[in-house]
Amino acid sequence: MTQRTWGHGAIRLLRGNITEIRADALVTAANDGLRGGGGVDGAIHRAGGPEILEACRRIGGCPTGQAVATTAGELDARWIIHAVGPIWQGGNRGEAELLASAYRQSLRVLADLGGSSIAFPSISTGVYGYPLEAAATVALGAVARHLELETQPSDVTFVLFDARTFDTYTRALETLSASGD
Ligand code: APR
Repeated sequence: MTQRTWGHGAIRLLRGNITEIRADALVTAANDGLRGGGGVDGAIHRAGGPEILEACRRIGGCPTGQAVATTAGELDARWIIHAVGPIWQGGNRGEAELLASAYRQSLRVLADLGGSSIAFPSISTGVYGYPLEAAATVALGAVARHLELETQPSDVTFVLFDARTFDTYTRALETLSASGD
């Protein structure tokens, strides 16, 4: 585990399965139809039960770069935040801004709900094909900026599923810390 205090809060990096984490909100990497899927979204829906997909159906969808909250069903959290990251299309289709926005909007949705702790997966770097190093820099940069400007949520954990993703985020956090000194 790696932890850095930042602005009004802290960024923590963990290797693991996000469904086993306790936080006010767990973020899933959703699609714009909120239809459920594989990867982290599949894991969240399986572990949380059918109530989450029912809530998604009622909402109906969420544009890329945005985020919406639902019940967390049986998971040890108050909410699931469904964040829609971009599909990688080569890097010239606004992917970086859309990815940063997916993180920012998730934080904003939780702030509006009054929550203070949030766990993110590595959005867009699975099926959606976003190159990992670039995604880690965008993800951490967006969260760091939020922590500098806002007081809530203050406790941000990235739950990274495999060693390569964890190592890449760890290096990106070191680079970000060095540039912020
Ligand atoms: N906990 C944490 N991270 C996980 C878990 C888990 N249980 N399972 C998978 N991951 C990781 C993947 O290893 C990857 O690093 O989450 C990251 C994101 O991968 P995807 O889940 O494929 O998400 P994304 O690339 O954003 O694609 C979203 O996939 O499942 C569909 O409905 C989803 O259509 C949407 C698309």
